[in-house]
Amino acid sequence: MLLVPRLLVAITLGLSVAAASPQISPRVRHESRSTIPSGWTPVHRAGGDTVIPLKVGLVQPNLASIEEYVMDVSHPDSPNYGNHWSPVKVAQTFRPSVESVEIVRSWLLSNGVEPHRVKLSQSGSWITANVTVAEAEGLLGTEYYVYEHQNGHKHIACDKAYHLPEHVSKHVDLVMPTLHFDAKVKPGAPLEKRDGKIQSVGAPGFGPVSPKTTGTIKNIFDELDHCDEQITPNCLRALYDFVYTPLAPKKNSIGIVEYTPQAYVPSDLDLFFKNFSKSQVGQRPVMASIDGGTIDVSGSGFGYNGESNLDLQYVMALVGHKQNVTLYQVGDEVQGASFNNFLDGIDGSYCTYEGGDDPSQDGIYPDPYGGYQGKEDCGTYSPAHVISTSYSYDEYELTPAYMQRQCNEYAKLGLMGTTVLYSSGDSGVAAYNRNCLNPDGSVSPDGKLFAPTFPSTCPYVTSVGATQVNPGAKVTDPESACAQVIYSGGGFSNVFKMPDYQKNAVENYLTKYPPPYAADRYNTTGSRAYPDISANGANYAVAIQGEYYSVYGTSASSPVTAAILSAVNDARLAIGKKPIGFINPTIYSTTFQKAFNDITNGTNPGCGTAGFSAQPGWDPVTGVGTPNFPKLLALWLLKQ
Ligand SMILES: *[C@@H]1O[C@H](CO)[C@@H](O)[C@H](O)[C@H]1NC(C)=O
Ligand SMILES: *[C@@H]1O[C@H](CO)[C@@H](O)[C@H](O)[C@H]1NC(C)=O
Ligand SMILES: *[C@@H]1O[C@H](CO)[C@@H](O)[C@H](O)[C@H]1NC(C)=O
Ligand SMILES: *[C@@H]1O[C@H](CO)[C@@H](O)[C@H](O)[C@H]1NC(C)=O
Ligand SMILES: *[C@@H]1O[C@H](CO)[C@@H](O)[C@H](O)[C@H]1NC(C)=O
Repeated sequence: MLLVPRLLVAITLGLSVAAASPQISPRVRHESRSTIPSGWTPVHRAGGDTVIPLKVGLVQPNLASIEEYVMDVSHPDSPNYGNHWSPVKVAQTFRPSVESVEIVRSWLLSNGVEPHRVKLSQSGSWITANVTVAEAEGLLGTEYYVYEHQNGHKHIACDKAYHLPEHVSKHVDLVMPTLHFDAKVKPGAPLEKRDGKIQSVGAPGFGPVSPKTTGTIKNIFDELDHCDEQITPNCLRALYDFVYTPLAPKKNSIGIVEYTPQAYVPSDLDLFFKNFSKSQVGQRPVMASIDGGTIDVSGSGFGYNGESNLDLQYVMALVGHKQNVTLYQVGDEVQGASFNNFLDGIDGSYCTYEGGDDPSQDGIYPDPYGGYQGKEDCGTYSPAHVISTSYSYDEYELTPAYMQRQCNEYAKLGLMGTTVLYSSGDSGVAAYNRNCLNPDGSVSPDGKLFAPTFPSTCPYVTSVGATQVNPGAKVTDPESACAQVIYSGGGFSNVFKMPDYQKNAVENYLTKYPPPYAADRYNTTGSRAYPDISANGANYAVAIQGEYYSVYGTSASSPVTAAILSAVNDARLAIGKKPIGFINPTIYSTTFQKAFNDITNGTNPGCGTAGFSAQPGWDPVTGVGTPNFPKLLALWLLKQ
C-alpha cells in the first residue's frame, strides 16, 4: 500500500521522471543459477537488437497462507476436514493484486517500454512485453548469451542471475526468458535413435523414474507362493489385504497420467486381463487427451509401452471392472509435453498463472513443429479424486521458482480435494544415471551430495517409494525396501522446507537412527523429506507387445497405491462423505501411521554410500510404510 502513492507520481510525471530516475529502489538479485545444465555451452553474447517476449509472472496474494488453507481442509483434526474448495474460490483467492500489476507496469514504462508494448493477461497474472535483448539486459541487470546444446539446439538465456528493483521484486515470482533451460528434449534431436536408448521427445524426466526391466519372462504364475519371484494383482491384494468391490463408481474417479510418446497397447491390456482379470477383457481406460495426447505412436516395445502398460494393467485390474480409470494422455508425438501442460489441462486458472508456461520447458500448442495444431488445453478436464504420475525430474534440472510455481498448483489440487501421487525415483539417494551433486550444483558420477527428485520433494505431493518381497520369503512375510534392479528414491529436498505434518516423524528418525552423514551428503537444514509411503516395486509381470516382462520401479508403486486409495474414496463417497484429498497430514498422524505396514529393513544406496536405512516409524526410504487396506479404510470411514 505504501507504494501506491509513489506509483501515482511515476505515472503522472511520466517520462521525465523516468529519465531523471529510472530506478526508485536499489536492485536486488531476483533469481540465480550457479551452473549451466550439463550439455549446454555459451557460444556468444546475444545480439542487442534481438527481440524476446519478456514475461513477468506476478506473485499471487494469499500464497503465504496456502499451507494454512490446505491444512484446514486436510488435517485430520480440523473441523473443516473434507470441506474442499471450488475451483472458482481457488482462482479468486490467488488472483494477483492490482497493486502488483501497476508496480510492474510502471517499472516497465519508466524504463522506456512504451505502453502499447505492455500487455496484461486476461487472468491478470502475468505481464508481457516484446523487448530487445539490450532492453532486457538493462531492465534485469544481466547479460544474455546464446547457448548451444551438444545436440545442436540453441537457446537464449541470461548468465548466472538477474536483478529487479527491490520494490518490484516483491511483486514478481519469475521473469522469463532468463535462467530457464530446456528440461524438455526438443524435436530435431531424435534421441530415440541415440545410444540405442529411448529418451524421447518431451516426456518429462523420463529418465529418473522410467520402469526398469530384466527382460521377458517365460512362465507367469498366479499362485501366491511365487510372489517373491513375480508380482501379479493377486500378490498385491494379498500383500495389502486389498479386496474391495466399488459401491459408488459413478461418483468416484481415478486418473493415470502418461506423456506421449509413452502409450499403452490395447491388445496387451487384453492379454493381461485374460490372465489376471477376465471380466475386464475389452475394457479400456477413458481417454482424456491433453494437447494432442495420443496412443497412436510410431514406436513400440518396452521403451514406448512399458510405463503405460504397467500403470494401466495394474490400476485397472486392482480397481476392477466397475470403476472407470481416466487416462490423461499428454502431448503429441512431435513435441511432447511437461507437467505444466498436464496441469493446464485440468485447471484453467493455471494456464495463465504466474507467467503461464515456460516455452523453454513446456510444450507450446498449437505445435510450432508441425504436431498437434489444436488450441492448448486449459481446464478441459476435471481432476480425478486420485491422480498418479510415474515421471519425474531431479531437482537440479529445474530452477527453484519453476518448481515452486508448480508445487503451489499441487497445493491447490489438494485444496480442491485431489490426492496427487508421484513415484519417488528409482536411484536411491542418487540422481538419474547414478550421478550425484557437486557443491556447485552440477552433477557427475563422482559427486558426493545426494540428489533429490521433483515433484516428490514438493510438500503437497504424496511421494511413493518402493518395497519388495524378499527372495525366498512368503507373501505374508514383512517386505523390505526394494533392492532388486532399483532402489527406492528418498531423502531431503534442496528447495522445499519441511512441512509441519512430517516434523515429528522425521525428527524421530534423525534422533533414533541418525544417518552417518553430514551436510556434505544431504541437506540437514530442515528440508522436506520424502517418500511419504511405499508399495511393492519389484518383479511385476507386465504384458508388453504380446510378451510378459519382469518390471521394476517406483513407477509401479505409485499406481498401485492410487488404486488402494481410490477404494477408500469410493467407500466414503458411497455414504455421502468427501474424498480424502491431500492425505499427508493424515497419514503422518499417530493413529494413521499404525494403519501402515512399517518397513524396517533395507536401504536406498547411491553416491558411493548405503543411502538411508528403513527403520521403525517413518524413514527416507519407505516413508510411513505400505498400506494395510482394511485398517486404513476403517480409520478413514470414521473421519467426517
Ligand atoms: C510480440 O511479438 C509477437 C511477434 O511479432 C506478437 O505475436 C506478439 O503479440 C507480441 N507480444 C506483445 C505482448 O506485444
Ligand atoms: C465408464 O466409461 C464409459 C465410457 O466413457 C461410460 O459409458 C460408462 O458409463 C462409465 N461407467 C461408470 C461407472 O462411470
Ligand atoms: C495366461 O494366458 C495364456 C493365454 O490365454 C494361457 O496359455 C496361460 O496358461 C495363462 N497363464 C496363467 C498363469 O493364467
Ligand atoms: C537446503 O534446503 C533448503 C530448503 O529447505 C535450501 O534453502 C538450501 O539452499 C538447501 N541447501 C543446499 C546446500 O542446497
Ligand atoms: C533385508 O533386506 C535385504 C535386501 O536389502 C534382504 O536380502 C534380507 O533378506 C532382508 N532381511 C530381512 C530380515 O527381512
